[in-house]
Amino acid sequence: MADDLWWQRGIFYQIYPRSFQDSNGDGIGDLTGILQRLPYLSRLGADAVWLSPIFPSPMADFGYDISDYTGIDPIFGNMQDFDLLIASVHERGLKLILDLVPNHTSDQHPWFIESRSSRTNPKRNWYIWSDGAADGEPPNNWLSEFGGSAWQYDATTGQYYYHAFLAQQPDLNWRNPEVRQAIYDVMRFWLRKGVDGFRVDVIWHLIKDDQLRDNPLNAAFREGMPPNQRLTPLYTTDRPEIHDVVAEMRQVVDEFRDRVLIGEIYLPVEQLMSYYGKDLLGAHMPFNFALLSASWNAHEIKNIIAEYERALPIGAWPNWVLGNHDRPRIASRVGRDQARIAAMLLLTLRGTPTLYYGDEIGMEQVAIAPSQVRDPFERNVPGIGVGRDGCRTPMQWDADLNAGFSRGDPWLPLSADFLHENVRNLEADQTSILSLYRALIALRRNNPAMVSGSYEPVATANDLLFFRRREGSTCFNVVLNFGTEPMSLTHGDGIDFGTEILLSTHLDRWNETLSQSLDLRGNEGVITVRPHSSGQE
Ligand code: GLC
Repeated sequence: MADDLWWQRGIFYQIYPRSFQDSNGDGIGDLTGILQRLPYLSRLGADAVWLSPIFPSPMADFGYDISDYTGIDPIFGNMQDFDLLIASVHERGLKLILDLVPNHTSDQHPWFIESRSSRTNPKRNWYIWSDGAADGEPPNNWLSEFGGSAWQYDATTGQYYYHAFLAQQPDLNWRNPEVRQAIYDVMRFWLRKGVDGFRVDVIWHLIKDDQLRDNPLNAAFREGMPPNQRLTPLYTTDRPEIHDVVAEMRQVVDEFRDRVLIGEIYLPVEQLMSYYGKDLLGAHMPFNFALLSASWNAHEIKNIIAEYERALPIGAWPNWVLGNHDRPRIASRVGRDQARIAAMLLLTLRGTPTLYYGDEIGMEQVAIAPSQVRDPFERNVPGIGVGRDGCRTPMQWDADLNAGFSRGDPWLPLSADFLHENVRNLEADQTSILSLYRALIALRRNNPAMVSGSYEPVATANDLLFFRRREGSTCFNVVLNFGTEPMSLTHGDGIDFGTEILLSTHLDRWNETLSQSLDLRGNEGVITVRPHSSGQE
């Protein structure tokens, strides 16, 4: 345990800066707001804070379209605010992770303005330019994630440029060594400032096929799926050469002590694992998003865990994610009651957990009226449920004006339930989901076996998922009921379920002694031990 690294021990917390805390009344969150809320993160027990992009941006994709990699967007504050924030984060013993968006810039970035100005500009080859097909159509069939062709015609020079996302987000050419060096210098800029690592945006997208071959049709495509899924992205993502890039990024991070490289990757588990890199010299943690799309039942979850554990390279460190700024909120996906089971699962699995702001207070997906839609994905591809605004609504702090988020009009609507579902109320309520998160985090922080102990599946039947975390003589049983009906385990089942309940998701069974049976209510999960062997007495 003494050898564990902070990013293995720690609990990560993602902040979507626009929506966490506004300090100047413009209705958009900012760095000073985050600074004011650090005590909350300490009380919760978070160890590392990841900020979605805070850099200058025209905000076509709310900061994922960057026009200056080494500045702070005035909406969020300035560099003094950032310096104060990082110093305060570190004073509290927390870490700060930034979002690195190397796949594309804004079309307003000076590099792209130069690149598009002429075919002979020195920065021309920093982006992916191509002549159209003979008929004047785009160079090939590649599709944008956000709808339509991934190629944008640019009249100035009569060529097309490639954009995996919006036309305002031209892709950088990662085959060009100058581009690589420029982004590595950006990384060094922030690492020198003391940033503890990066979450790298769409890292599996960075390299595209050099021959621009057409992507094949996706036979599994059905109406109602995002239109880019008509094709399988064989030639646009997860190219073999990507692993050299990831290894180079890792080297940059390793020029500094104790920093972490996290990759955003949506791929099947076998491909995902390759991002740990040869000899584990790739990403420290390729994000594991398996739970984001899981059917919520004990059998499926057991299989996901087993598959992930099985595929993990020797020595690679696992991680788990329940939500982020691109996916529907966990409380809406599985329902309020099961959100507690999800919390217990996330915080007892083997591997670093990343929490998405607001999930700890059970925030739900907020319905967005058509006139209030801000997300460019939803605007481009309306009506099939891809909108991401609903999971990005303001944090609910208290029952005051705008939930204590802002004294101005919030940029996205607040959830209607904020009068009750807010931090102030839920911190005072000893049985709230927030109290559960705090108890689970405390348990994890105080018990090395929860971090470095083995994961041992014990039983799955109908709605039951039962696993253990064990290290030496310490053993925690995690028993989760994925259904609404009560269930009971008895000694006759032949499973050792321990002799004492340490913690229930309902927060009403502290240190309850078990004798003949372990009885769970619907939607209840418990952690049990045998005190003499767990060191819990
Ligand atoms: C990542 C981000 C998402 C963004 C996209 C393009 O998937 O998480 O929010 O829209 O990249 O940068």
